[in-house]
Amino acid sequence: MGVLYTAVQHAHSGLRWVVLILLIAAIGRALSRRGGGTVYPGKDKLALFGLISVHVQLLLGLVLYLWLSPYGVAADVPDAEGTSVARYYNYFHWWLMILATILITVGYSKAKRQAELNVGWKTIAVFYGIGLFIILAVIPWPFYPGLSSVGWG
Ligand code: HEM
Repeated sequence: MGVLYTAVQHAHSGLRWVVLILLIAAIGRALSRRGGGTVYPGKDKLALFGLISVHVQLLLGLVLYLWLSPYGVAADVPDAEGTSVARYYNYFHWWLMILATILITVGYSKAKRQAELNVGWKTIAVFYGIGLFIILAVIPWPFYPGLSSVGWG
């Protein structure tokens, strides 16, 4: 159990960089094309890989939250005995990250059905942009006191 926990914890922590890079790249391209008079190509690869990375992150997070992490459902939070780390993971991290994942998923599937010039690019920019904003705010960065056990990895 200990080895599995450490492996999934580090995979979930490291994958943040893949998620951030792909989302920033997809948003950057959508922003640069939003006024260029092109139709968004149904299955834009950057947007697709960004979507997949967020979904993999969601699955790893659920495994941590439900089974492996001492800060997830295993923590005795409602008793006010829970540590602030457990409170953070139980009250904020999981549902805000799921909200961001839903926004990104909705944006991806809306955009691929929009055949008008420019519109799909704008949809990606807005939905992925709001999703990225939430993810950046909710990642337990090492500079948020006490929340991070992995650090920058
Ligand atoms: C894009 C989505 C997500 C990102 C970028 C993300 C990012 C991270 C990062 C960077 C950490 C490591 C913190 C550290 O110890 O330094 C972490 C921990 C954690 N995440 Fe996520 N997360 C996401 C989604 C989720 C979801 C949806 C859940 C639950 C359903 C979740 C549950 C957890 C748990 C329980 C931990 C604590 C692991 C531990 O140290 O025991 N995460 N997350």
